[in-house]
Amino acid sequence: MNLKKLVGEKAAEFIEEGMVVGLGTGSTAYYMVEALGRRVKKGLHITGVTTSAQTKIQAEALGIPLKSVDEVDQIDITIDGADEISSTYQGIKGGGGALLFEKIVARYSDTVIWIVDDSKLVKEIGDFPLPVEVIPYGSQQLLKLFKERGYRPAFRQTEDGERYLTDAGHYIIDLQMKKIADPHTLADWLDHQTGVVEHGLFLDCVNTVIVGSEKGVEIQN
Ligand code: 5RP
Repeated sequence: MNLKKLVGEKAAEFIEEGMVVGLGTGSTAYYMVEALGRRVKKGLHITGVTTSAQTKIQAEALGIPLKSVDEVDQIDITIDGADEISSTYQGIKGGGGALLFEKIVARYSDTVIWIVDDSKLVKEIGDFPLPVEVIPYGSQQLLKLFKERGYRPAFRQTEDGERYLTDAGHYIIDLQMKKIADPHTLADWLDHQTGVVEHGLFLDCVNTVIVGSEKGVEIQN
């Protein structure tokens, strides 16, 4: 069973006529955008706000009308994937490199829905490398700082071995934390480091998680 497709298509059912919809990024969000595109072709009127260049290309090809986050008053629902979700619904996102725009869009959304297969549910987050988006200038100093703190940092690379650049032109440093016992304290520390633009800790921001497993779809509110 394709669990990503299952939850992506389920999530698209939450969208109603006239809504402004945040469109997430990644291989799970992909199926939600495809399903929404099919509904738009059948006459559903929505406005999409994309979270990455990749999703923008997909949504445009499907004929989903789009606006930027600055052109809408608010976003009714954002549907996005996640890399890890803890038992207290704290998340790591940004595996696909879109964390900055994803967090901005989530911030201005009335409702945030995450769509995942059950492999993403963990007791404590941290096994998945935590992405930190940084300004290139001074990024070696940040790498050193993260190393000193034992976070085992590495600049994200492309498949060609080039340094990965986000849609906003920043670098990503992935932290191999293994366990993040206190995500709020870590988020607060990262928020105060000069040159850090954003990080992949998405805390206290999700309303509903749609989980796919071999048993089917479960909606957790
Ligand atoms: C992109 C993200 C994705 O939502 C996250 O990486 C999950 O991706 P996928 O659905 O492909 O597993 O945060 O920046």
